[in-house]
Amino acid sequence: MADAADLLSRIRVNGAVPRHVAIIMDGNGRWARERMLPRPAGHRSGMKSVRAVVEGALEAGVEVLSLFAFSQENWQRPPGEVDALMSLLEEYIQKEADELEEQGVQVRMLGELDRLTPPAFSAVDRVMKQTAHNSTLRLNLFISYGARAELTRAARLLAEDVAAGRLTPAQVDDAAFEAKLFTAGCPDPDLLIRTSGEQRISNFLLWQVAYTELVISDVLWPDFSRRELYEAIAEYQNRDRRFGRVRP
Ligand code: FPP
Repeated sequence: MADAADLLSRIRVNGAVPRHVAIIMDGNGRWARERMLPRPAGHRSGMKSVRAVVEGALEAGVEVLSLFAFSQENWQRPPGEVDALMSLLEEYIQKEADELEEQGVQVRMLGELDRLTPPAFSAVDRVMKQTAHNSTLRLNLFISYGARAELTRAARLLAEDVAAGRLTPAQVDDAAFEAKLFTAGCPDPDLLIRTSGEQRISNFLLWQVAYTELVISDVLWPDFSRRELYEAIAEYQNRDRRFGRVRP
């Protein structure tokens, strides 16, 4: 089996690396259950995979890495698990902020951040400010995020602009809509990876994935490493992207 370094050399020769890779990190709970551990132990182990894919994306020359860390629906999990996820978010920022800063990673947290606990919110605010000037890799962490809520928020903001006379209804086009999304100014994902074998989008980036290539990995998130990232990129490089058109 090819290791991460072999796969990296191969994808460099193959051609274009995706500019934007998005990942639905799934399977932490099953990983923990297989080891008879509590679910938060799976999330904790999943933090190592976050580090691995950030390193992998940096080495491969990916420009944007988007990770779905906590959905709006996740607020309905048992309070102990929600608390554990909020604490892990703080811990992740505390542990990684300086290294991310040194590596030139710009960290952006996207979602309904006003629902975060005050300590989690201030950690998020701190790392975003600390890394705002960086440009090697943009790391989008989606927290308290749901795509339908993002879309209705965009519609509401546009309606407010129209009501206030800042925009006419005829000016509401794709670009105007895109400008109201959390991801405004960010290229759409070229590749979306979902781990743990599930074949769903789960309310992630519904607008942005219109022409994204989807790769499903059977590996549970805590076992996902640079090698699996590069395997997904190699699969992406074999796809024929036509964006609804035909080849000339
Ligand atoms: C899905 O697995 C994963 C999550 C809901 C949380 C993802 C969080 C992390 C990877 C760790 C924290 C990362 C950061 C950046 C702070 P699941 O619990 O739905 O798994 P299951 O489907 O097997 O139950």
